[in-house]
Amino acid sequence: MNTPPAAEAMKRAAAARALEFVEDGMKIGLGTGSTADAFLDLLAPLVHAGLKIVGTPTSQRTADKARALGIPIEELDMLGPLDLVVDGADEADGDLNLIKGGGGALLREKIVAASGLRMLVIADETKLVDRLGAFALPVEVVPFGHGSTARRIAAVAHARGYPHMVPVLRTKDYAPYRTDNGNYIYDCPFGAIENVPLLAVTLSTIPGVVEHGLFVGMASALVLAGPSGVRVIVGPP
Ligand code: A5P
Repeated sequence: MNTPPAAEAMKRAAAARALEFVEDGMKIGLGTGSTADAFLDLLAPLVHAGLKIVGTPTSQRTADKARALGIPIEELDMLGPLDLVVDGADEADGDLNLIKGGGGALLREKIVAASGLRMLVIADETKLVDRLGAFALPVEVVPFGHGSTARRIAAVAHARGYPHMVPVLRTKDYAPYRTDNGNYIYDCPFGAIENVPLLAVTLSTIPGVVEHGLFVGMASALVLAGPSGVRVIVGPP
């Protein structure tokens, strides 16, 4: 699907604003998705002009793109704590909670986000919502017994007040979609999530669930681009 030019421009505008947070010598977590791609596209010329940074990618796709652009990358374990993580989101709320994983990279994205001193979320302003959940929540599960795991996810959802939530196995080319970690993803249409932290903790306790796309208390700031400019919503210190 092609992105309309206006949406493309907003992603670039958010990415450009995020560059203002980048300083020489930083270790940076590099997100996944079209907005994170825009950030890489804008970062590369600065690197070629002498900016000294090293990135750690959140997906194979981002690693490939960073290499192609000449942005130095290193494995997370070689870098230790990151100064900054810049990543997109599928939804964000006013408390800076996020839904991520539309691009399938949620597990590595969350590990990298947890390793960052600050996480900037770059997006067009349509991603800001009153309540998370209109975007189906990606949940990464191990392939073994994945159908049983999906039934447990549904049972937990039904017990928590989402009686119609049916997890949908993500597919690609008529086969289950595989993450970079070899796992499957179920997309879970909750509709409107009442209590994000509670659901996040609950999903994490289900055997077979590797990770889910609720990012709670991880983002430091939202960098949101709209037709009239870019605004930054900062979270608690
Ligand atoms: C990747 O797994 C996701 O978490 C992305 O960050 C998210 O889907 C945002 O992607 P776009 O920037 O393409 O909207």
